[in-house]
Amino acid sequence: MYTFPKDFWWGAATSAPQTEGASLSVGKTATTWDYWFEQQPELFYDQVGPTDTSMLYTHYKEDCKRMKEIGFNSYRTSISWARLLPDGKTLNPEAVAFYREYFEAIHQENIEPVINLFHFDMPMWLMEKGGWEARESIDAFGFYAQTAFECFGDLVSYWTTFNEPLVHVECGYLYGYHYPAIVDFKKAIQVGYHTLLAHAKAVEAFRRVLPNKKIGIILNITPSYAKSAQADDQKAAQISNLFNTKSFLDPAVFGHVPDGLPDLLMQHELLPNTKETDRELLAKGIVDFIGLNYYHPRRVQAPLAPNMPAKMPEDLYAAYDWPEKVINPYRGWEIYPEAIYDVAIMMRDEYRNIPWFVSENGMGVADEERFLHDQELDDTYRIEFMKTHLAYLHKGISEGSHCFGYHAWTFIDCWSWLNAYKNRYGFYRVDLKTQERILKKSGQWFKQVSQQNGFEE
Ligand code: BG6
Repeated sequence: MYTFPKDFWWGAATSAPQTEGASLSVGKTATTWDYWFEQQPELFYDQVGPTDTSMLYTHYKEDCKRMKEIGFNSYRTSISWARLLPDGKTLNPEAVAFYREYFEAIHQENIEPVINLFHFDMPMWLMEKGGWEARESIDAFGFYAQTAFECFGDLVSYWTTFNEPLVHVECGYLYGYHYPAIVDFKKAIQVGYHTLLAHAKAVEAFRRVLPNKKIGIILNITPSYAKSAQADDQKAAQISNLFNTKSFLDPAVFGHVPDGLPDLLMQHELLPNTKETDRELLAKGIVDFIGLNYYHPRRVQAPLAPNMPAKMPEDLYAAYDWPEKVINPYRGWEIYPEAIYDVAIMMRDEYRNIPWFVSENGMGVADEERFLHDQELDDTYRIEFMKTHLAYLHKGISEGSHCFGYHAWTFIDCWSWLNAYKNRYGFYRVDLKTQERILKKSGQWFKQVSQQNGFEE
Protein backbone atom coordinates (compact mmCIF):
# COMPACT_ATOMS: atom_id res chain seq x y z
CA MET A 1 0.00 0.00 0.00
CA TYR A 2 1.26 3.48 -0.83
CA THR A 3 0.10 5.58 2.11
CA PHE A 4 0.56 9.33 1.97
CA PRO A 5 1.21 11.74 4.88
CA LYS A 6 -1.63 12.75 7.21
CA ASP A 7 -3.79 15.62 5.88
CA PHE A 8 -2.38 15.17 2.39
CA TRP A 9 -4.18 17.35 -0.18
CA TRP A 10 -6.18 15.38 -2.74
CA GLY A 11 -7.86 17.47 -5.38
CA ALA A 12 -7.47 19.16 -8.72
CA ALA A 13 -6.74 22.48 -10.34
CA THR A 14 -8.68 24.53 -12.84
CA SER A 15 -8.61 28.21 -13.70
CA ALA A 16 -11.13 31.01 -14.18
CA PRO A 17 -10.67 31.53 -17.94
CA GLN A 18 -10.83 27.79 -18.62
CA THR A 19 -14.00 27.02 -16.70
CA GLU A 20 -16.12 30.05 -15.79
CA GLY A 21 -17.65 31.03 -19.12
CA ALA A 22 -19.62 34.30 -18.91
CA SER A 23 -16.46 35.71 -20.40
CA LEU A 24 -17.87 39.01 -21.58
CA SER A 25 -20.74 39.52 -19.19
CA VAL A 26 -21.65 40.54 -15.63
CA GLY A 27 -19.17 43.36 -15.75
CA LYS A 28 -16.14 41.41 -17.00
CA THR A 29 -14.12 43.08 -19.74
CA ALA A 30 -12.05 41.35 -22.43
CA THR A 31 -8.79 39.50 -21.87
CA THR A 32 -6.31 38.83 -24.66
CA TRP A 33 -8.14 35.52 -25.23
CA ASP A 34 -11.51 37.17 -25.81
CA TYR A 35 -9.87 39.66 -28.13
CA TRP A 36 -7.86 37.11 -30.09
CA PHE A 37 -10.85 34.82 -30.52
CA GLU A 38 -12.90 37.70 -31.85
CA GLN A 39 -10.12 38.59 -34.31
CA GLN A 40 -9.07 35.11 -35.43
CA PRO A 41 -11.48 32.34 -34.36
CA GLU A 42 -9.91 29.99 -36.91
CA LEU A 43 -6.82 29.72 -34.71
CA PHE A 44 -8.86 27.94 -32.02
CA TYR A 45 -9.56 24.21 -32.23
CA ASP A 46 -13.05 23.69 -33.68
CA GLN A 47 -13.45 27.46 -33.35
CA VAL A 48 -14.45 27.11 -29.71
CA GLY A 49 -13.65 30.28 -27.78
CA PRO A 50 -13.51 31.33 -24.12
CA THR A 51 -17.26 31.92 -23.86
CA ASP A 52 -18.00 28.24 -24.48
CA THR A 53 -16.45 26.74 -21.39
CA SER A 54 -17.89 24.44 -18.77
CA MET A 55 -19.88 27.37 -17.29
CA LEU A 56 -18.81 27.10 -13.68
CA TYR A 57 -20.06 30.67 -13.39
CA THR A 58 -23.59 29.28 -13.23
CA HIS A 59 -22.88 25.65 -12.22
CA TYR A 60 -20.41 26.16 -9.38
CA LYS A 61 -22.74 25.02 -6.58
CA GLU A 62 -23.45 21.59 -8.10
CA ASP A 63 -19.84 21.37 -9.23
CA CYS A 64 -18.55 21.88 -5.68
CA LYS A 65 -20.76 18.95 -4.66
CA ARG A 66 -19.25 16.91 -7.49
CA MET A 67 -15.78 17.71 -6.18
CA LYS A 68 -16.78 16.37 -2.79
CA GLU A 69 -18.29 13.27 -4.40
CA ILE A 70 -14.91 12.31 -5.79
CA GLY A 71 -13.03 12.90 -2.57
CA PHE A 72 -11.47 16.33 -2.97
CA ASN A 73 -10.26 17.95 0.22
CA SER A 74 -8.66 20.86 -1.65
CA TYR A 75 -9.16 22.57 -4.99
CA ARG A 76 -7.38 25.31 -6.94
CA THR A 77 -8.93 27.81 -9.24
CA SER A 78 -8.14 31.40 -10.13
CA ILE A 79 -9.74 34.83 -10.02
CA SER A 80 -10.25 36.65 -13.29
CA TRP A 81 -8.42 39.99 -13.08
CA ALA A 82 -10.64 41.47 -15.84
CA ARG A 83 -13.75 40.39 -13.93
CA LEU A 84 -12.67 41.75 -10.54
CA LEU A 85 -11.24 45.02 -11.90
CA PRO A 86 -12.81 45.58 -15.33
CA ASP A 87 -10.80 48.76 -15.94
CA GLY A 88 -7.91 48.02 -13.59
CA LYS A 89 -9.14 50.40 -10.89
CA THR A 90 -12.87 50.03 -10.23
CA LEU A 91 -14.07 47.05 -8.26
CA ASN A 92 -16.88 45.05 -9.90
CA PRO A 93 -19.40 44.31 -7.10
CA GLU A 94 -20.89 41.41 -9.07
CA ALA A 95 -17.48 39.78 -9.28
CA VAL A 96 -16.97 40.18 -5.54
CA ALA A 97 -20.37 38.61 -4.87
CA PHE A 98 -19.71 35.76 -7.31
CA TYR A 99 -16.29 34.82 -5.96
CA ARG A 100 -17.43 35.11 -2.34
CA GLU A 101 -20.34 32.73 -3.01
CA TYR A 102 -18.12 30.38 -5.01
CA PHE A 103 -15.46 30.20 -2.26
CA GLU A 104 -18.16 29.75 0.39
CA ALA A 105 -19.64 26.89 -1.65
CA ILE A 106 -16.19 25.24 -1.73
CA HIS A 107 -15.95 25.58 2.07
CA GLN A 108 -19.43 24.16 2.52
CA GLU A 109 -18.15 20.90 1.06
CA ASN A 110 -15.18 20.95 3.47
CA ILE A 111 -12.78 21.60 0.64
CA GLU A 112 -9.79 23.92 1.09
CA PRO A 113 -9.75 26.56 -1.65
CA VAL A 114 -6.37 27.46 -3.14
CA ILE A 115 -6.75 30.67 -5.11
CA ASN A 116 -4.44 31.80 -7.87
CA LEU A 117 -4.28 35.32 -9.28
CA PHE A 118 -3.05 34.95 -12.85
CA HIS A 119 -3.51 32.04 -15.25
CA PHE A 120 -2.46 33.44 -18.66
CA ASP A 121 -5.44 35.85 -18.73
CA MET A 122 -4.06 39.33 -19.38
CA PRO A 123 -6.81 42.00 -19.35
CA MET A 124 -7.01 43.98 -22.60
CA TRP A 125 -6.94 47.32 -20.77
CA LEU A 126 -3.40 46.44 -19.62
CA MET A 127 -2.38 44.78 -22.89
CA GLU A 128 -3.17 48.04 -24.64
CA LYS A 129 -0.59 49.71 -22.41
CA GLY A 130 2.04 47.08 -23.28
CA GLY A 131 1.04 44.15 -21.05
CA TRP A 132 3.96 42.49 -19.25
CA GLU A 133 6.40 44.35 -21.49
CA ALA A 134 5.49 47.57 -19.69
CA ARG A 135 7.00 48.24 -16.29
CA GLU A 136 3.65 49.61 -15.17
CA SER A 137 2.30 46.04 -15.18
CA ILE A 138 4.16 45.44 -11.87
CA ASP A 139 2.17 48.02 -9.92
CA ALA A 140 -1.04 47.12 -11.74
CA PHE A 141 -0.63 43.50 -10.62
CA GLY A 142 0.29 44.60 -7.10
CA PHE A 143 -2.93 46.61 -6.88
CA TYR A 144 -5.01 43.71 -8.20
CA ALA A 145 -3.38 41.28 -5.75
CA GLN A 146 -3.98 43.58 -2.79
CA THR A 147 -7.62 44.07 -3.83
CA ALA A 148 -8.16 40.31 -4.07
CA PHE A 149 -6.52 39.72 -0.65
CA GLU A 150 -8.78 42.38 0.90
CA CYS A 151 -11.96 41.08 -0.75
CA PHE A 152 -11.48 37.36 -0.11
CA GLY A 153 -8.77 37.02 2.54
CA ASP A 154 -11.29 35.89 5.17
CA LEU A 155 -12.34 32.98 2.94
CA VAL A 156 -9.01 31.86 1.51
CA SER A 157 -6.00 30.70 3.51
CA TYR A 158 -3.82 29.52 0.58
CA TRP A 159 -3.00 31.87 -2.28
CA THR A 160 -0.72 31.72 -5.29
CA THR A 161 0.43 34.59 -7.48
CA PHE A 162 1.00 33.02 -10.91
CA ASN A 163 0.33 29.78 -12.71
CA GLU A 164 3.28 28.74 -14.88
CA PRO A 165 4.73 32.22 -15.45
CA LEU A 166 7.22 30.71 -17.87
CA VAL A 167 4.35 29.81 -20.18
CA HIS A 168 3.02 33.33 -20.81
CA VAL A 169 6.65 34.40 -21.35
CA GLU A 170 7.50 31.59 -23.80
CA CYS A 171 4.17 31.25 -25.54
CA GLY A 172 3.51 34.99 -25.84
CA TYR A 173 6.99 36.35 -26.59
CA LEU A 174 9.26 33.52 -27.73
CA TYR A 175 7.32 30.99 -29.78
CA GLY A 176 4.24 32.96 -30.83
CA TYR A 177 1.63 30.52 -29.49
CA HIS A 178 -0.29 32.98 -27.29
CA TYR A 179 -1.25 36.60 -27.92
CA PRO A 180 0.61 38.91 -28.68
CA ALA A 181 2.47 36.10 -30.53
CA ILE A 182 5.82 37.89 -30.58
CA VAL A 183 9.06 36.00 -31.29
CA ASP A 184 11.84 37.94 -29.57
CA PHE A 185 14.23 36.42 -27.01
CA LYS A 186 15.18 39.75 -25.46
CA LYS A 187 11.56 40.85 -25.04
CA ALA A 188 10.75 37.48 -23.51
CA ILE A 189 13.46 38.03 -20.89
CA GLN A 190 12.08 41.49 -20.10
CA VAL A 191 8.56 40.08 -19.76
CA GLY A 192 9.84 37.31 -17.48
CA TYR A 193 11.67 39.86 -15.37
CA HIS A 194 8.59 42.07 -14.95
CA THR A 195 6.57 38.98 -14.02
CA LEU A 196 9.09 38.14 -11.30
CA LEU A 197 8.82 41.65 -9.90
CA ALA A 198 5.02 41.56 -10.12
CA HIS A 199 5.09 38.31 -8.14
CA ALA A 200 7.27 39.95 -5.48
CA LYS A 201 4.97 42.98 -5.37
CA ALA A 202 2.00 40.70 -4.70
CA VAL A 203 3.85 38.83 -1.94
CA GLU A 204 4.81 42.16 -0.38
CA ALA A 205 1.12 43.20 -0.30
CA PHE A 206 0.16 39.77 1.05
CA ARG A 207 2.46 40.05 4.07
CA ARG A 208 0.78 43.36 4.92
CA VAL A 209 -2.85 42.34 4.35
CA LEU A 210 -2.87 38.67 5.37
CA PRO A 211 0.17 38.11 7.61
CA ASN A 212 -1.15 34.85 9.04
CA LYS A 213 -2.02 33.13 5.80
CA LYS A 214 0.11 31.32 3.21
CA ILE A 215 1.24 32.34 -0.24
CA GLY A 216 3.00 30.42 -2.99
CA ILE A 217 3.57 30.28 -6.73
CA ILE A 218 2.74 27.55 -9.26
CA LEU A 219 5.57 26.62 -11.63
CA ASN A 220 5.71 24.21 -14.53
CA ILE A 221 8.57 21.82 -14.04
CA THR A 222 10.18 20.11 -17.03
CA PRO A 223 13.44 18.64 -15.67
CA SER A 224 16.14 18.62 -18.34
CA TYR A 225 17.98 15.35 -18.90
CA ALA A 226 21.19 15.47 -20.97
CA LYS A 227 21.71 13.21 -23.99
CA SER A 228 25.09 12.05 -22.67
CA ALA A 229 27.73 12.60 -19.99
CA GLN A 230 29.79 14.64 -22.43
CA ALA A 231 30.61 18.14 -21.25
CA ASP A 232 28.71 19.99 -24.00
CA ASP A 233 25.50 17.98 -23.46
CA GLN A 234 25.80 18.44 -19.70
CA LYS A 235 26.28 22.16 -20.15
CA ALA A 236 23.20 22.33 -22.39
CA ALA A 237 21.11 20.60 -19.69
CA GLN A 238 22.42 23.01 -17.06
CA ILE A 239 21.49 26.03 -19.18
CA SER A 240 18.08 24.56 -19.89
CA ASN A 241 17.50 24.06 -16.15
CA LEU A 242 18.68 27.59 -15.49
CA PHE A 243 16.02 28.99 -17.83
CA ASN A 244 13.25 26.47 -17.35
CA THR A 245 13.47 25.55 -13.66
CA LYS A 246 15.67 27.91 -11.70
CA SER A 247 14.62 31.24 -13.28
CA PHE A 248 11.40 31.39 -11.24
CA LEU A 249 12.06 28.77 -8.54
CA ASP A 250 15.20 30.42 -7.12
CA PRO A 251 13.62 33.87 -6.69
CA ALA A 252 10.52 32.33 -5.07
CA VAL A 253 12.56 30.24 -2.60
CA PHE A 254 15.65 32.41 -2.04
CA GLY A 255 14.56 35.91 -3.10
CA HIS A 256 17.11 36.40 -5.88
CA VAL A 257 17.74 35.31 -9.45
CA PRO A 258 19.84 32.16 -9.82
CA ASP A 259 23.63 32.35 -9.92
CA GLY A 260 24.90 32.20 -13.45
CA LEU A 261 21.79 33.60 -15.12
CA PRO A 262 22.81 37.30 -15.24
CA ASP A 263 26.26 36.38 -16.66
CA LEU A 264 24.73 34.18 -19.31
CA LEU A 265 22.23 36.88 -20.27
CA MET A 266 25.01 39.46 -20.45
CA GLN A 267 27.12 37.21 -22.68
CA HIS A 268 24.21 36.94 -25.10
CA GLU A 269 23.14 40.59 -24.91
CA LEU A 270 19.84 39.65 -23.31
CA LEU A 271 20.00 41.50 -20.00
CA PRO A 272 16.66 43.17 -19.16
CA ASN A 273 16.27 46.82 -18.15
CA THR A 274 16.36 47.02 -14.38
CA LYS A 275 16.10 49.57 -11.56
CA GLU A 276 18.31 49.77 -8.51
CA THR A 277 15.44 49.01 -6.14
CA ASP A 278 14.55 45.75 -7.95
CA ARG A 279 16.89 43.61 -5.88
CA GLU A 280 15.17 44.74 -2.70
CA LEU A 281 11.74 44.01 -4.14
CA LEU A 282 12.79 40.56 -5.41
CA ALA A 283 13.95 39.68 -1.90
CA LYS A 284 10.37 40.23 -0.71
CA GLY A 285 9.05 37.58 -3.09
CA ILE A 286 9.98 34.58 -0.92
CA VAL A 287 6.98 32.29 -0.60
CA ASP A 288 5.66 29.84 2.00
CA PHE A 289 5.10 26.96 -0.41
CA ILE A 290 5.62 25.97 -4.04
CA GLY A 291 3.24 24.25 -6.45
CA LEU A 292 4.83 22.25 -9.27
CA ASN A 293 2.93 21.27 -12.41
CA TYR A 294 4.54 18.19 -13.91
CA TYR A 295 3.56 16.61 -17.22
CA HIS A 296 6.74 15.60 -19.03
CA PRO A 297 10.53 16.03 -18.92
CA ARG A 298 12.87 17.68 -21.44
CA ARG A 299 15.60 15.77 -23.24
CA VAL A 300 18.39 18.06 -24.33
CA GLN A 301 21.72 18.05 -26.08
CA ALA A 302 24.36 20.57 -27.09
CA PRO A 303 23.01 23.08 -29.63
CA LEU A 304 23.30 21.86 -33.20
CA ALA A 305 24.04 25.31 -34.62
CA PRO A 306 25.10 27.56 -31.76
CA ASN A 307 24.75 31.26 -32.35
CA MET A 308 26.57 34.02 -30.57
CA PRO A 309 24.69 35.97 -29.33
CA ALA A 310 21.80 33.51 -29.01
CA LYS A 311 18.71 34.43 -31.01
CA MET A 312 16.58 31.68 -29.46
CA PRO A 313 17.00 29.23 -26.55
CA GLU A 314 17.74 26.53 -29.16
CA ASP A 315 21.07 28.27 -29.75
CA LEU A 316 21.96 27.30 -26.17
CA TYR A 317 20.41 23.85 -25.87
CA ALA A 318 18.69 21.66 -28.43
CA ALA A 319 15.87 19.15 -28.06
CA TYR A 320 16.96 15.54 -28.17
CA ASP A 321 14.76 12.66 -29.30
CA TRP A 322 15.51 10.04 -26.66
CA PRO A 323 15.04 6.66 -28.38
CA GLU A 324 13.74 4.97 -25.22
CA LYS A 325 10.98 7.43 -24.53
CA VAL A 326 7.42 6.28 -23.87
CA ILE A 327 4.84 8.51 -25.52
CA ASN A 328 1.29 9.31 -24.52
CA PRO A 329 -0.28 8.20 -27.81
CA TYR A 330 -3.25 10.49 -27.25
CA ARG A 331 -1.38 13.74 -26.68
CA GLY A 332 2.18 13.18 -27.94
CA TRP A 333 3.98 14.12 -24.73
CA GLU A 334 6.61 11.83 -23.20
CA ILE A 335 5.47 9.90 -20.14
CA TYR A 336 8.26 9.73 -17.58
CA PRO A 337 6.95 9.34 -14.01
CA GLU A 338 10.49 8.84 -12.62
CA ALA A 339 11.05 12.59 -12.99
CA ILE A 340 8.60 13.30 -10.19
CA TYR A 341 10.95 11.48 -7.81
CA ASP A 342 13.94 13.47 -9.10
CA VAL A 343 11.97 16.68 -8.57
CA ALA A 344 11.05 15.64 -5.01
CA ILE A 345 14.72 15.03 -4.20
CA MET A 346 15.74 18.29 -5.85
CA MET A 347 13.25 20.18 -3.65
CA ARG A 348 14.62 18.41 -0.57
CA ASP A 349 18.30 18.95 -1.32
CA GLU A 350 18.51 22.14 -3.37
CA TYR A 351 15.49 24.14 -2.21
CA ARG A 352 15.81 23.89 1.60
CA ASN A 353 13.03 21.29 1.65
CA ILE A 354 10.38 24.00 1.35
CA PRO A 355 6.81 22.62 1.54
CA TRP A 356 5.56 21.91 -1.96
CA PHE A 357 2.77 20.05 -3.71
CA VAL A 358 2.11 18.62 -7.15
CA SER A 359 -0.22 21.31 -8.39
CA GLU A 360 -1.02 19.75 -11.78
CA ASN A 361 -0.46 16.29 -13.22
CA GLY A 362 -2.66 14.47 -15.63
CA MET A 363 -3.17 12.82 -18.95
CA GLY A 364 -4.46 14.76 -21.91
CA VAL A 365 -6.37 12.80 -24.53
CA ALA A 366 -6.98 14.37 -27.91
CA ASP A 367 -10.55 13.97 -29.10
CA GLU A 368 -11.44 11.75 -26.17
CA GLU A 369 -15.05 12.21 -27.21
CA ARG A 370 -14.34 9.86 -30.13
CA PHE A 371 -14.16 6.81 -27.95
CA LEU A 372 -15.56 7.76 -24.55
CA HIS A 373 -19.26 7.52 -25.18
CA ASP A 374 -22.14 8.12 -22.84
CA GLN A 375 -22.37 4.81 -21.01
CA GLU A 376 -19.18 3.67 -19.36
CA LEU A 377 -16.49 6.36 -19.44
CA ASP A 378 -13.53 4.01 -19.16
CA ASP A 379 -10.35 6.09 -19.00
CA THR A 380 -8.15 3.39 -17.47
CA TYR A 381 -5.11 4.92 -19.22
CA ARG A 382 -5.53 8.02 -17.03
CA ILE A 383 -5.65 5.93 -13.86
CA GLU A 384 -2.44 4.13 -14.87
CA PHE A 385 -0.77 7.46 -15.61
CA MET A 386 -1.64 8.89 -12.19
CA LYS A 387 -0.77 5.68 -10.33
CA THR A 388 2.75 5.54 -11.73
CA HIS A 389 3.36 9.20 -10.97
CA LEU A 390 1.98 8.87 -7.46
CA ALA A 391 4.19 5.83 -6.82
CA TYR A 392 7.32 7.87 -7.64
CA LEU A 393 6.01 10.79 -5.61
CA HIS A 394 5.51 8.44 -2.67
CA LYS A 395 9.12 7.28 -2.98
CA GLY A 396 10.32 10.91 -2.84
CA ILE A 397 8.15 11.64 0.20
CA SER A 398 9.33 8.50 2.00
CA GLU A 399 12.89 9.78 1.50
CA GLY A 400 12.06 13.04 3.24
CA SER A 401 10.78 15.43 0.56
CA HIS A 402 8.19 17.79 2.08
CA CYS A 403 5.39 17.27 -0.41
CA PHE A 404 1.95 17.89 1.10
CA GLY A 405 -0.45 17.22 -1.76
CA TYR A 406 -1.39 16.08 -5.23
CA HIS A 407 -3.71 18.02 -7.51
CA ALA A 408 -4.71 16.46 -10.77
CA TRP A 409 -5.30 18.37 -13.95
CA THR A 410 -8.23 18.37 -13.85
CA PHE A 411 -11.61 18.23 -12.19
CA ILE A 412 -13.71 18.71 -15.30
CA ASP A 413 -12.93 18.82 -19.03
CA CYS A 414 -11.98 22.40 -19.65
CA TRP A 415 -11.20 24.93 -22.35
CA SER A 416 -7.47 25.03 -23.05
CA TRP A 417 -6.45 28.12 -25.00
CA LEU A 418 -5.83 27.47 -28.71
CA ASN A 419 -6.43 23.77 -28.07
CA ALA A 420 -9.92 24.60 -26.75
CA TYR A 421 -11.52 21.21 -25.93
CA LYS A 422 -9.15 19.15 -28.05
CA ASN A 423 -7.22 17.57 -25.18
CA ARG A 424 -9.49 16.45 -22.40
CA TYR A 425 -8.16 15.82 -18.91
CA GLY A 426 -11.19 15.87 -16.60
CA PHE A 427 -12.46 13.39 -14.02
CA TYR A 428 -15.83 14.54 -15.35
CA ARG A 429 -16.68 14.67 -19.01
CA VAL A 430 -18.61 17.75 -20.13
CA ASP A 431 -21.07 17.72 -22.96
CA LEU A 432 -20.67 21.19 -24.39
CA LYS A 433 -24.14 21.28 -25.86
CA THR A 434 -26.11 20.27 -22.76
CA GLN A 435 -23.53 21.11 -20.08
CA GLU A 436 -24.16 17.62 -18.67
CA ARG A 437 -21.34 16.29 -16.50
CA ILE A 438 -20.59 12.55 -16.48
CA LEU A 439 -18.13 10.93 -14.13
CA LYS A 440 -15.28 9.01 -15.77
CA LYS A 441 -13.75 5.89 -14.24
CA SER A 442 -10.70 7.91 -13.14
CA GLY A 443 -12.94 10.05 -10.91
CA GLN A 444 -14.29 6.96 -9.15
CA TRP A 445 -10.75 5.70 -8.67
CA PHE A 446 -9.58 9.07 -7.34
CA LYS A 447 -12.33 9.03 -4.72
CA GLN A 448 -11.00 5.73 -3.34
CA VAL A 449 -7.43 7.02 -3.32
CA SER A 450 -8.48 10.08 -1.37
CA GLN A 451 -10.60 8.07 1.08
CA GLN A 452 -7.76 5.62 1.77
CA ASN A 453 -5.12 8.35 1.59
CA GLY A 454 -3.26 6.12 -0.85
CA PHE A 455 -3.68 3.01 -2.96
CA GLU A 456 -2.64 -0.63 -3.21
CA GLU A 457 0.67 -1.37 -4.92
C1 BG6 B 1 -1.05 23.30 -18.16
C2 BG6 B 1 -1.81 24.62 -17.96
O1 BG6 B 1 0.26 23.60 -18.45
O2 BG6 B 1 -1.47 22.51 -19.25
C3 BG6 B 1 -3.29 24.47 -18.27
O3 BG6 B 1 -1.64 25.13 -16.65
C4 BG6 B 1 -3.52 23.67 -19.56
O4 BG6 B 1 -3.87 25.74 -18.32
C5 BG6 B 1 -2.86 22.30 -19.41
O5 BG6 B 1 -4.87 23.56 -19.85
C6 BG6 B 1 -3.13 21.34 -20.58
O6 BG6 B 1 -2.72 21.82 -21.80
P1 BG6 B 1 -3.07 21.22 -23.25
O7 BG6 B 1 -2.12 21.92 -24.17
O8 BG6 B 1 -2.84 19.74 -23.25
O9 BG6 B 1 -4.48 21.54 -23.56
